[in-house]
Amino acid sequence: MSEASSPAAQVAAVLKVAQDALGAAPDVDTLRRVANEHTGKGSVLVGLKSSLGSITDVEARKAAGRAINEATQAIDALVAQRLSELERDAASRAAAGEAMDLTEHLGRRTRGHSHIVTQAWERLEDVFVGMGFKVAEGPEVETDFHNFTALNMPPNHPARSGFDTLFVKHGAAGSTLLRTHTSPVQIRVMQEWPLPIYAVMPGRVFRRDTPDATHMPVFHQIEGLVIDKGITFAHLAGTIEAFTKAFFGSDFTSRLRPSFFPFTEPSAEFDVRSASGKWVELGGCGMVHPNVLRSGGIDPEVYTGFAFGFGIDRMAKERHAVADLRDMYANDLRFVRQF
Ligand code: PHE
Repeated sequence: MSEASSPAAQVAAVLKVAQDALGAAPDVDTLRRVANEHTGKGSVLVGLKSSLGSITDVEARKAAGRAINEATQAIDALVAQRLSELERDAASRAAAGEAMDLTEHLGRRTRGHSHIVTQAWERLEDVFVGMGFKVAEGPEVETDFHNFTALNMPPNHPARSGFDTLFVKHGAAGSTLLRTHTSPVQIRVMQEWPLPIYAVMPGRVFRRDTPDATHMPVFHQIEGLVIDKGITFAHLAGTIEAFTKAFFGSDFTSRLRPSFFPFTEPSAEFDVRSASGKWVELGGCGMVHPNVLRSGGIDPEVYTGFAFGFGIDRMAKERHAVADLRDMYANDLRFVRQF
């Protein structure tokens, strides 16, 4: 018997081939197939095993049997090892596929922040909620009734023309519009809420205006409405003053100047003065007109109330000393990043 064809040499050759093939198996299916080729039915090792009986020398037969068993065990061990490698690779590939990059905010992008008008809006809500008010909102597309008629401005009332209204093509001509102020929300709150009412109503309003340093066709207002028994003008003045100090700081003060609005009687404009002594006009206010209370379904003989409304954009402009309202909406990052 030549060296090359001795059982031990054949086993060694099988083991070498099996080792290379198992090490190179790219997936579990290939691995199982290769393992079967070397240790399963019809494999060289199984063939050698069944021909052991033909070896007459006892010691040589024992040695050949041991070599076959060792080779089989070595192949089994290799299969197990390669299997766990393949499973580990598959798991880490799956994990990489599901991974999220949570490092994005670390410098690759700068973080954004709220617009200065949003900041003012939210702070106004906070201050009024702190004073016991609830927050309400109404629709931006309104009826003529809520925006004008219910607010004591019947059709052809001269005050209507001061509002530069944008109308919407819907229903009868002139019946639907973009609200020109947040006062129509007063009517909705009076009709829907139980009494007494302590409400603020922030929102977007629209007027047919050409943009300039102090006007925008789309801007924001916050409306206030208090309806209770025994409410007087002193409550209005006290509320405006308390709000001024809470929002701007204790070195600010407010004043009321006589004015006119169809929906309040008496009416006033209110101004705020900073430590520098400059008075800034902020908005309008007054005692809710009896006709308006009636539009809201409230008996003016039993309840009285006050209302106020002012521009949020203008407050943000004053607070941050912005020279031109248009700068607040140009989205120039050099401007935006300052606030
Ligand atoms: N709605 C008025 C305006 O837009 C402001 C206002 C509100 C005045 C409430 C009095 C009472 O000019």
